[in-house]
Amino acid sequence: STTPNTAAKAAGKLYFGSATDNPEFTDAPYLAILSNQATFGQITAANSMKWDATEPAQGTFTLDAADTIANFAMGNGQLLRGHNIVWHNQLPSWVSEGNFDNATLTSILQNRASTLIGHFKGDIWDVVNEPFNEDGTMIDFVFTETIGPSYIDIALKAARAADPSTKLYINEFNIEFPGPKSTAMQNLVKDLKSQGTPIDGIGLQSHFIVGQVPSLSDLQANMEAFTALGVEVAITELDIRMLNVSIPEMEFEEMLAQQKVDYQNVITACNNVEKCIGVTVWDFTDKYSWIPGAFPGQGAACPWDDNLVKKPAFDGIIAGFQ
Ligand code: G3I
Repeated sequence: STTPNTAAKAAGKLYFGSATDNPEFTDAPYLAILSNQATFGQITAANSMKWDATEPAQGTFTLDAADTIANFAMGNGQLLRGHNIVWHNQLPSWVSEGNFDNATLTSILQNRASTLIGHFKGDIWDVVNEPFNEDGTMIDFVFTETIGPSYIDIALKAARAADPSTKLYINEFNIEFPGPKSTAMQNLVKDLKSQGTPIDGIGLQSHFIVGQVPSLSDLQANMEAFTALGVEVAITELDIRMLNVSIPEMEFEEMLAQQKVDYQNVITACNNVEKCIGVTVWDFTDKYSWIPGAFPGQGAACPWDDNLVKKPAFDGIIAGFQ
C-alpha cells in the first residue's frame, strides 16, 4: 500500500504536503505521521509565519515558532512553503491605515519580505495571500489604501531579491473554478507578466464542501487557464468539509464515501495538469482542522479523523495520483 507523497512523486508531482501549527508539536502520535516523508513531502505553517506572529512590533521579528516548523521540515527532508508575506488578515495592529505614508509602508513591506524570506529561505512562498473580493475587485485594506494595487508588484520584487531561487506565488480561494474571481486573478497574472514582475505560480486553496466540489472538467480547465499564462499552479489548502457532522452513523458513512470521491477528483485534476506541481492539505487530521472553529457544526474535512485514523478520503487521494 502506497502513501500520498510517494504516490504524488510517482505521478511526476513535486510533493504531497500538509499544513501544521505549533500547538500540535506536543502531540507525538501526530508528529509521527507528519514527519514521515513518504506521506508528506512538504510543510506549510498555518499561522506562525504570518505578520502578527512574526513582527508584533515594528522592526521586532519573532521567528522562533516558525523556526520550529521550518527546522522540522528540513530535518525530515520536506519542502517548506512560506505563508505568507502580505494579507489583509492577521496583521499586527501597528500595520493599519493612517499610520504610514506610501514610501514608509513600502519600505516596511520590503523589509518584511527580505527578513522573512532571507531567514527561512523556503522552497515556495505565498507572497501575496487573498488579494480579491468575490466579485473580482481588490480587497480594500491598508496596503491598497496607502500604496494601491502596486503593493503586489512591490512584494513580489522584494521577495525575488531576498531569494532568487524560491518560487513566488499568489494564493487565493474560490478561484478553483471559472468565475469573476478566477478571471480577476488571470488578469492580474497577465498584468504582472507584461510589466516584468516576478511571479511563478498561483495557489488554489481549495476549501471545498462534500458533494459540492467543482466538476473535474471545471477544475482542470481552470488550472489550464492559469498555466496557459505561463505560471504553474498548486493546490495549497485542500480540505473538504461536511456541512453537518451531527448526523446518523449511516448518513455519516455516506458522506465519507462522497468525500473520498471528492478528494479523488481534486487530486485527479492536479494529476492531469502537468504544471500543477503538488497538493497540500490544510492539516491532515480533523483533530486540528480550522473548520469547526470557523464554521460551528461543520467539519470532518480532513483525510485522517480525530483519532488520527485514515478515512476513505485517504484512498481517494492515492487513487487520484494513479
Ligand atoms: O493565538 C490566539 C490565542 O492566543 C487565543 O487564545 C485564541 C482564542 O480564539 O485564538 C488564537 O488565535 C487563533 C489563530 O488561528 C491561532 O490559532 C485565531 O483565533 C484563529 O482565528 C486563527 O485561525 C486561523 C485563520 O487562518 C485566521 O484567518 C487558522 O488557524 C488558519 O488555519 C487559517 O488559515 C487560513 C490561511 O492562512 C489562508 N486561507 C484560509 C485559511 C483558513 O481560514
